[in-house]
Amino acid sequence: MTATSEPPLEASDVAVLVPAAGLGMRLGGGTPKALRELAGESLLVRCCRNLSGVGLIVVAAPPDAVDLVARLVRGAVVVAGGQTRQESVANALAAVPSEFDIILVHDAARALAPFSLVTSVAKAVRDGHDAVIPVLPVVDTIKQVNALGDVVATVDRAELRAVQTPQGFRRALLAKAHATVTDSHTDDAGMVERLGATVHTVPGDPRAMKITTPADLRLAEVWLDS
Ligand code: CTP
Ligand code: MG
Repeated sequence: MTATSEPPLEASDVAVLVPAAGLGMRLGGGTPKALRELAGESLLVRCCRNLSGVGLIVVAAPPDAVDLVARLVRGAVVVAGGQTRQESVANALAAVPSEFDIILVHDAARALAPFSLVTSVAKAVRDGHDAVIPVLPVVDTIKQVNALGDVVATVDRAELRAVQTPQGFRRALLAKAHATVTDSHTDDAGMVERLGATVHTVPGDPRAMKITTPADLRLAEVWLDS
């Protein structure tokens, strides 16, 4: 990806960390998921193109593909990812120059998230929310199940949300979370919740779906065509 024209003002103060170092075991195919192609172009390149109005992109790449990824996403800073998503984000965070006060974390696996979602999350951070996540309502009925496979409770769906990325943070809060939280979390908001900080929600976008399985890749093709 090459830088296009001047970045729009609403996102030029934003750095986006893109964890892209996962193996993609559930997708299969033997290639790291971020490098798998969707309609002839890798998920990572698509993801970064949808970010092209931000001030800085830092990609955490599979450690043996750093040079390849740097060639694929020109203009981005590329670092080696870690053993877990959390480590990959920490490695990318360490590469962000101090002038960026708003930092978004965005999975390469959510390659079709539109730029409007980036600006909406960044705006909410700028408006005073130190941690912001995009969410969607949950459509299935959700039940809590015990180790025997028996239902313990039906959870009130109206209170539940499915969480996406990009997730946005004031830099100081994200840095504190990555410096002090040692247990493992599947997203960055979970880490700042651990610190007792309030996490604000904004409406998510179905195009920010996470591509996890082969069926998700087919679904993403449908989004491309629509
Ligand atoms: N990720 C990462 N470093 C890791 C593990 C995951 O940067 N060590 C990234 C993935 O590349 C992906 C995002 O975190 O963009 C979300 O992870 P997930 O969807 O679970 O991707 P994978 O870990 O690659 O897939 P799987 O769990 O099926 O192996
Ligand atoms: Mg994973």
